[in-house]
Amino acid sequence: MTLPDEFKALVVAETQENQYTRSIAQKKIDDLPEGDVVVQVLYTSLNYKDVLSATGNRGVSRNYPHTPGIDAAGIVADSTTEAFKPGDPVIVTSYDLGMNTAGGFGQYIRVPAGWVVSQPQSLTAAEAMVYGTAGFTASLSVWNMIESGVAPDDGDILVSGATGGVGSIAVSILSKIGYSVTAINGVVDETDYLNEIGAKHIISIDEAGDTSGRPLLKSLWAGGIDTVGGDILATTIRSTKYGAAVTCCGNVASADLPLNVYPFILRGVRLIGIDSQNCPMPIRQKIWQKIASEWKIDWLQTITTEASFDELNDKIELMLQGKHIGRTIIKMVD
Ligand SMILES: NC(=O)c1ccc[n+]([C@@H]2O[C@H](COP(=O)([O-])OP(=O)(O)OC[C@H]3O[C@@H](n4cnc5c(N)ncnc54)[C@H](OP(=O)(O)O)[C@@H]3O)[C@@H](O)[C@H]2O)c1
Repeated sequence: MTLPDEFKALVVAETQENQYTRSIAQKKIDDLPEGDVVVQVLYTSLNYKDVLSATGNRGVSRNYPHTPGIDAAGIVADSTTEAFKPGDPVIVTSYDLGMNTAGGFGQYIRVPAGWVVSQPQSLTAAEAMVYGTAGFTASLSVWNMIESGVAPDDGDILVSGATGGVGSIAVSILSKIGYSVTAINGVVDETDYLNEIGAKHIISIDEAGDTSGRPLLKSLWAGGIDTVGGDILATTIRSTKYGAAVTCCGNVASADLPLNVYPFILRGVRLIGIDSQNCPMPIRQKIWQKIASEWKIDWLQTITTEASFDELNDKIELMLQGKHIGRTIIKMVD
């Protein structure tokens, strides 16, 4: 495959202290960091972390100018390793991609071979990016919950942030594999959407966040997939049935967890931390195989908005304003 002289990338630059601009610029392959594999990005996706990186959040990206994009699916364009050959379809998510390594918001990336996953045959690049980091995290959460012994017959699973990227995919997968899902609806009424993606019951954010301070609440949930943290995660843990498992991956509501030990020592609740970024490669490959086979969502189009590279900036703004639903994928080829 011939490498291009130039390609396009979204570049975030600091113009004045704490003021950042985003523009599409021409880049050269030599501008990319060192690495074993050059990938032509066909699709990328939009995640909460990308928005942080695109707005100058130094906790995500330390150095600017920078090209965000924690997800990429495409074709190997050049490789110095036997493991990947030009033309191979691949997925790159997690590790340092898009954080301090130029990411999927550019038409080419160059990364270490250890970050690259072969794209399963039953997924297209666009489908792989509907999942992306959000879908991978949702799947890793579901996998951990199942591994800890929660079965469909045990009762309802509560999913928070259910209209978001991680939550939507968690609701969809759980519903597809036979779990009864209760979804937490946010500020705007998204009942129709949540029902369409498989939620059986829906509760409001107010119901989901108990601030009474009682250490234990009525036993409702056999499991929980939490993406928001704070009072909602604490309430979920206090409202579980005996032996439930709750996963925790995000902090959009709060990084605090106002709890005491009673749910753990009186109900045997398990709280499972989810980190997609450094998930070991053997588990990562297993999860992608699940996504591409028995967990593949039948209504991917319901949760997906596809946009062009030129529309990426508008989509970042939408997510910044909290008006983003499901998953947005970006077609990176002209
Ligand atoms: N640990 C990991 O490996 C990992 C990987 C990926 C993502 N994450 C984290 O997971 C979280 C979700 O990511 P995402 O991509 O799904 O984000 P997203 O698409 O922006 O979705 C966020 C969801 O949270 C809800 N929400 C927002 N503010 C809330 C609040 N104050 N209280 C309750 N719910 C609230 C939103 O609903 P409304 O807008 O309707 O309120 C929406 O459903 C983020 O914290 C992200 O950093 C972690």
